[in-house]
Amino acid sequence: MRLTLSSLLALSCAAVPMAAALADAPLPAAATAHPELWPQGKSVGLVDPETEAKITKMMAEMSVREKVGQMIQPSIASMKPEELREYPVGSILGGGNDPPLSGNDRGPVGDWIATAEAFRQVSIEKRPGHVPIPVIFGMDSVHGNSNVFGATIFPHNVGLGAMRDPALMEKIGEVTAAESAASGFDWAFGPTVTVPQDDRWGRSYEGYSERPEITREYSAAMVRGLQGVPGKARIQNGNVAASIKHFLADGGTHGGIDQGDAQISEKDLIAIHSPGYVSGIDAGAMTVMASFSSWNGVKNHGNKSLLTDVLKGRLGFEGFVVGDWNAHGQIPGCTNGNCPQTFNAGLDMAMVPGDWKDLFNNTLKQVQDGTIPMARVDDAVRRILRVKFKLNLFDPARPFEQKQMLGIPEHRAVARQAVSESLVLLKNNGALLPIKPGQKVLVTGTHADDVGLQSGGWTLSWQGTGNTNADFPGATTIWAGLKSAIEAAGGSATLSADGKVTGPKPDVAVVVFGETPYAEMVGDISTLEFQPGDKQALAQLKALKAQGIPVVTVFLSGRALWVNPEINQSDAFVAAFLPGSEGAGIADVLVAKKDGTPNKDFRGKLSYSWPKNAGQFANNVGQPGYDPQFAYGYGLTYKDHTAVPQLSEVAGLDASLSNVSVYFLPGRILPPWKLATGGAVAMKNVDGGGTQEGARQLAFSGPGEVRIEGPQVDLSRQSNAMLSLRIDYRIDAKGASAPKLGMGTTFVDGGKVFTAAPGQWSSVKVSLSCFAAAGANMNAIARPFVLQGDAGLTLSIATVKLDADPTGAICPK
Ligand code: BGC
Ligand code: BGC
Repeated sequence: MRLTLSSLLALSCAAVPMAAALADAPLPAAATAHPELWPQGKSVGLVDPETEAKITKMMAEMSVREKVGQMIQPSIASMKPEELREYPVGSILGGGNDPPLSGNDRGPVGDWIATAEAFRQVSIEKRPGHVPIPVIFGMDSVHGNSNVFGATIFPHNVGLGAMRDPALMEKIGEVTAAESAASGFDWAFGPTVTVPQDDRWGRSYEGYSERPEITREYSAAMVRGLQGVPGKARIQNGNVAASIKHFLADGGTHGGIDQGDAQISEKDLIAIHSPGYVSGIDAGAMTVMASFSSWNGVKNHGNKSLLTDVLKGRLGFEGFVVGDWNAHGQIPGCTNGNCPQTFNAGLDMAMVPGDWKDLFNNTLKQVQDGTIPMARVDDAVRRILRVKFKLNLFDPARPFEQKQMLGIPEHRAVARQAVSESLVLLKNNGALLPIKPGQKVLVTGTHADDVGLQSGGWTLSWQGTGNTNADFPGATTIWAGLKSAIEAAGGSATLSADGKVTGPKPDVAVVVFGETPYAEMVGDISTLEFQPGDKQALAQLKALKAQGIPVVTVFLSGRALWVNPEINQSDAFVAAFLPGSEGAGIADVLVAKKDGTPNKDFRGKLSYSWPKNAGQFANNVGQPGYDPQFAYGYGLTYKDHTAVPQLSEVAGLDASLSNVSVYFLPGRILPPWKLATGGAVAMKNVDGGGTQEGARQLAFSGPGEVRIEGPQVDLSRQSNAMLSLRIDYRIDAKGASAPKLGMGTTFVDGGKVFTAAPGQWSSVKVSLSCFAAAGANMNAIARPFVLQGDAGLTLSIATVKLDADPTGAICPK
């Protein structure tokens, strides 16, 4: 078996023990593709003689410097518009956390338009030695124009897959394009046509299905929706360029590890992972984004047989290939600022958010000295210009006058329909649903009244964390939708934040809970068990059951998770995935009209198999030994009268082995972590964290140390992904000297961390990157929290865990 450095790195990143990961790895084949085995593509109108002649003429006027510039894509966070004069790059992108130039990430759409215009105007300036060519501005419009305040947010792809409705997908594409173009963007980094094979992968929700059939149809529908008729896309008509991503087999990553290695045969590469590209290219997709991942140990960004021979050759792709975020820098021998290998392999434009100057200068040198052949540059530039011409970016007219179209009722109606079609009814014992006219309904659960939680990652911020309802003007929470539908049918609805019943006993309770937002590697998990070690939602369901109240669960998640205990405590259970801004689509199906008939029936069918235990990571339909809890294609309707029996509550996997991020919650330390002390410190339970005896009070009578310790875990990815260590604490008395806060054996000044006034509960977040910068070896952390104090210090802690929301995180110097 061949083990490259990159596959080793990927494996060591996993929370699963390395030996196990190696043992079940299939023998990798060679990573050179055989184009003749792949489907033969045909031309779809991107290439026409008139446009090609214009390109030829333009290229004859361009300097080498200007040509190389077309191949470079910085982020708007690290390039200023005026820098385009010295560095005439071909494109800019807005990253998930990049605000418009105004700096106001929650600003009006005009801020985005101004940003787009600021860059565009410099790029098309007439000045000596410069051929005016508009930059193409790309954004992650992956579930609607989801980075912009006030936009319509669609369900994530995992929910859309359940709809089985390509016609609606096309409309979703149209709305997404219209709102993106009206915001100043030319290009959507979507659709994601990944076919996730392992639900532990943090990007599972970005895929429509575990099978290629739905993806094949949807890819074409989305590309048509975003771009319009193949070859006829016009930015002026509200079309944007699509980018089918991530090429290839990102969903085949071994062990469900983000940016990992697909250890599969070429046959599977073609059969499972390529159909969305074949159909998307056929529908005229103007760009393809290469994947961070590897195929059998070779990084896709450096794989010429895939990028050039297969994609541009056999599949007949005539648009351009864009890279992913510094992904070229992961090719052995490359850095973010230096990588001729990727261009020689066939990448046309590198996404290089921060190190763009270095990459620009190095690439220019490598073209001049022949390391990168001129013919390769000319091919790349021709493809990029082709897309710019075909999208009609050279025409100064822009659809900005339509900016008031963001989040308009017609658009929201499309999203609301998608929400209602995506719901999958897993259980409806005793026909508890629909909610009957006149019923008294209690609505509760962490996710009942929160647009951010119902939208997931890639929403206003990269991780989708840190959002409140105020960030979504015009959106509807699930609670708000339920309330109006229930009242319209003559019933009454009460929202209970904590699940407690006040007043008369309700006829039914609707409990809305699920995963909290994540994106990319931050979402990688190693058990499919929902809330391992922290069964908050289950406790709430049990409490309601104990009072004899029938329970409907609405479960929000980016993937099929093992929730058998929660299903057992629910009379009805609805998988609602990540519905987005139009929560009313849920009430459209769950609540009956005044005459007692349902408004709409369930249409959703599982596009991923639902696991029978926490270890069924890659239990996909068609595979040997297929044995799910709910099979691919399952989904009840109101016409079905199937009772779901009591399900097994044996998780089958020790969740404590996978907990690398939650150490202490009010009342308990979570396995496999332990609290230990050394020196002159005493520990006792006190009230805190909203729980009786929820906190530990640490009283120092001399130099001492309190630490949370356990197995050595790798927190390097968490550190790179901007996670922080969050501590909820109260200073009860100050010590003789400032305390120190440590991770592993690296310490920062605790005096700058624990700054709250004595006697008050407070919360602080210290960036993991801060410990890394101070020298902590993030690859091997056995003590994620160490507090060293001195005589007199008394400090209480209620929560210690990793936090994905970077807002407010500090780095004491
Ligand atoms: C993601 C892409 C995304 C890009 C730009 C990358 O980290 O993998 O899907 O389009 O960033 O935000
Ligand atoms: C960016 C995302 C990007 C990610 C990649 C984030 O900082 O905002 O757009 O996908 O980094 O690691």
